[in-house]
Amino acid sequence: MRLVSTLLYATLLLCTRVCAFIPGIDGPLSHQEALEGGNTTFLCDTTPDSSGDEFMILVWYKNNIPIYSFEIPDREWADSTFNATGRMSADVRSQPTAITVSVLTEDDQAVYHCRVDFRLSPTRNIGVNLTVVVLPSPPFFMDELDNKVERTVGTYHEGDTLVLKCLVIGGRPPPRLSWYSGSNLVDASDADSDIPSVRENELYLPLTRANAGSISCRASNTNLAPPVESKLDIELYLPAYNVSIHWVWGTADGVLRAGHPVLAQCTAPGSYPQPDLSWWLDQKHLTRHSNQSWVSSSSTAISYLELHPSVGDDGATLACVATNHAMAPSRNSKADVITLNVTYSPLLEVVRVGDGKLNEVVELDPLHLECEVKANPPAYKFIWYFNDSEIKSNSVWGENVTSQVLYVEEATREHAGRYSCVAVNSIGETRAESFTVTVLYPPECSHHGIRLVKEALSCNVKALPAPDTYLWHIEPSDSLEQRLTTGSRLLPLDQITGSLDRSLKASCEASNGIASQERACERTFSFEQLRPRQPQQCDLAFEHGEFHIRCVPVENATYYEVSVWKLSTSNSSLVLEKRAPMGFGSSQALSSTGSTWLVRAGLGKLGAGDEAGALACNRYGCSKALLLRPSETLLKAASPPWWNVLLSKEVCIPLVAAVLLVLFAASSAAALRAARRARTKPPVIQVLQLDDVTRNFLDNLPEHKLQASCSLRSCSSGYSEGSQRWGPPPPDVTLTLHRESAV
Ligand SMILES: *[C@@H]1O[C@H](CO)[C@@H](O)[C@H](O)[C@H]1NC(C)=O
Ligand SMILES: *[C@@H]1O[C@H](CO)[C@@H](O)[C@H](O)[C@H]1NC(C)=O
Ligand SMILES: *[C@@H]1O[C@H](CO)[C@@H](O)[C@H](O)[C@H]1NC(C)=O
Ligand SMILES: *[C@@H]1O[C@H](CO)[C@@H](O)[C@H](O)[C@H]1NC(C)=O
Ligand SMILES: *[C@@H]1O[C@H](CO)[C@@H](O)[C@H](O)[C@H]1NC(C)=O
Ligand SMILES: *[C@@H]1O[C@H](CO)[C@@H](O)[C@H](O)[C@H]1NC(C)=O
Ligand SMILES: *[C@@H]1O[C@H](CO)[C@@H](O)[C@H](O)[C@H]1NC(C)=O
Ligand SMILES: *[C@@H]1O[C@H](CO)[C@@H](O)[C@H](O)[C@H]1NC(C)=O
Ligand SMILES: *[C@@H]1O[C@H](CO)[C@@H](O)[C@H](O)[C@H]1NC(C)=O
Ligand SMILES: *[C@@H]1O[C@H](CO)[C@@H](O)[C@H](O)[C@H]1NC(C)=O
Repeated sequence: MRLVSTLLYATLLLCTRVCAFIPGIDGPLSHQEALEGGNTTFLCDTTPDSSGDEFMILVWYKNNIPIYSFEIPDREWADSTFNATGRMSADVRSQPTAITVSVLTEDDQAVYHCRVDFRLSPTRNIGVNLTVVVLPSPPFFMDELDNKVERTVGTYHEGDTLVLKCLVIGGRPPPRLSWYSGSNLVDASDADSDIPSVRENELYLPLTRANAGSISCRASNTNLAPPVESKLDIELYLPAYNVSIHWVWGTADGVLRAGHPVLAQCTAPGSYPQPDLSWWLDQKHLTRHSNQSWVSSSSTAISYLELHPSVGDDGATLACVATNHAMAPSRNSKADVITLNVTYSPLLEVVRVGDGKLNEVVELDPLHLECEVKANPPAYKFIWYFNDSEIKSNSVWGENVTSQVLYVEEATREHAGRYSCVAVNSIGETRAESFTVTVLYPPECSHHGIRLVKEALSCNVKALPAPDTYLWHIEPSDSLEQRLTTGSRLLPLDQITGSLDRSLKASCEASNGIASQERACERTFSFEQLRPRQPQQCDLAFEHGEFHIRCVPVENATYYEVSVWKLSTSNSSLVLEKRAPMGFGSSQALSSTGSTWLVRAGLGKLGAGDEAGALACNRYGCSKALLLRPSETLLKAASPPWWNVLLSKEVCIPLVAAVLLVLFAASSAAALRAARRARTKPPVIQVLQLDDVTRNFLDNLPEHKLQASCSLRSCSSGYSEGSQRWGPPPPDVTLTLHRESAV
């Protein structure tokens, strides 16, 4: 047995030189790679092909020189040179058997093979071509000018071409060089450089946003280790990729509400360097926004804006503009623009649709009111108010009272008043300010028609607007019909020509520009109340051989009349003898020191029982007459002395006169009684007292001794006894003292 093994060993040693391994002929050859400094394991199967056979010996060769053997039952040998550092280990118990060599060096690159001998079967050879990989040095970068580039490169803009060389020294097998932008291969066209054992790859890369960040060069010559890689950061100026506005809070589905603040966020990713974000509302720069923040990992700028939307902002555009000042103005900004949808409760105004003035409608014309509404979202309900109460559909307002338009087919005065409308939308309801509608109508006679106001006729009509012209139609009873126009309702009587002492028919018609009056106002007037008052202070005097009546003037009298009534001799009634205007002038009117005037008129002769009257007159006629009778004293003063009677021309006169005197005396009393019954005129007999002024005036007239007058029938106590004995006037009596007494 020992002999056999020795024999085998000898053969083995013999074969070392003689039996070189020829791949493909002696056995298969596999390729195996290992890193320098790393380890590798060679495998070899020692199980016999048939069960009857038996493994004898295993030998490993490096380039046909044995480095390890194993012999059954347990004889192991290792080449002491190869295993000098104790780097080889073997495991022959498991199948396949394995030999591991660590701390590999370049020298370990060789063809190894194992040879297995069996008792019966032929010898088995298996080859392994081991390549020991030497990793290259880390790549480095050079620019076009062969300057070394480290860490960053740039600055570039999008579209610029990046030109850069990647170089690698050493490595076995020679490495492949590839350019990567991020994780994308952009160039694998490497080559040997002019310098020995240096490889290079020159990159021509048009820069896009995708190349932002870093670019790397990878050198690789094995799969056993990751590529050796170097990186450069590219400074690439970029506008923001896109800008977008989002609502953070305060909105419901992007719908804003007037008066409710909202927060908007603007994000601008992908810009380099950090852009400035600015906010614009309808071209107006908003400056009150939060500070901008910058998230460098995603190159995103963020800005917040708190907005207080108002009604006017509905439909406005909100823009966020990202501006990169590092870049040319033409390509430095990006923006997002959104249109604001600001909702609010309705804004209202009532307006009248149609011709004419805004607030006015002519009676019987249609009245067309519109509730002019501005609302977002649109109003869906309308309510109308008239004089603050809700308009319900009825005969006055019709059926259609809940739409935006209120339509009254024929406006009447009932429709004048304040209108308002309420509009409702989903945000709320609003009530419009009151709108006052005036209904214009043509003039119509009001309650009293034409009235007399002082010395003017007043045409009383109702009209809106007030009439501007009045057309008068005047028919005095005794003169021609007159047509007059006035600008006011008053027609002064002095514009009417002709006498007004009798009745007057007047009609008036007003117009106010709307339409003229349908029916004129009519009335017949008499102006008795405008006549002067009856003279109150008169007396009779006898001077210059004639009776005179003298009166203190009466207010508003323009002239006076005098009448003389003679007592008829036949039937003892008073007969009007004359009626004539009382003259004015130096001979008849006397002036006093103050403002008192007297009017006077000569009456001729008066007898007992005769009466003289004074009337004050103006264009409206005369007052009633004040009637006076000469007193006995006055008559006595007027009668001539008795010898005059005797000396009269007629011889029988004295006798006749005596008879007449007796007759007269007798008939006076009878006539007086008869006159009481026969008089048709009411006998207003007055005893007059002159006021102090007048009396003084008369008393002081030098030539004319004044005789107080007294009607025969009513001479009252005290008066006839002379003015000097009058007591002072009662305190409540002022200018026109008088006392009346009926006959
Ligand atoms: C061989 O190398 C591998 C990794 O390279 C390591 O895990 C293993 O421990 C090494 N073996 C020896 C025996 O050194
Ligand atoms: C190589 O040497 C080491 C240390 O001397 C030893 O432990 C090892 O067994 C040797 N290898 C073989 C295959 O004999
Ligand atoms: C072994 O591999 C190397 C390359 O690693 C090669 O050059 C050589 O020709 C190979 N040897 C054989 C015998 O195939
Ligand atoms: C902006 O760009 C980012 C990244 O491509 C994208 O996810 C986003 O949808 C864009 N936003 C808008 C508003 O287009
Ligand atoms: C913005 O920045 C300024 C200065 O840093 C600071 O005074 C101010 O309070 C900041 N405003 C906000 C809203 O953060
Ligand atoms: C605004 O929002 C309201 C409420 O959602 C909606 O009814 C309306 O149609 C919107 N307007 C516009 C212009 O989008
Ligand atoms: C109400 O008036 C509106 C606007 O004039 C009109 O469109 C609508 O048809 C009317 N409705 C009725 C019931 O008359
Ligand atoms: C409505 O009010 C106005 C005054 O504001 C008033 O003149 C008018 O008579 C009123 N109309 C009705 C029908 O009450
Ligand atoms: C006189 O006329 C004026 C103006 O018309 C009037 O006011 C006054 O009352 C009249 N006087 C008398 C006594 O009638
Ligand atoms: C009285 O007499 C006069 C004539 O002196 C006469 O005109 C008058 O009519 C008479 N009156 C009566 C009532 O007879």
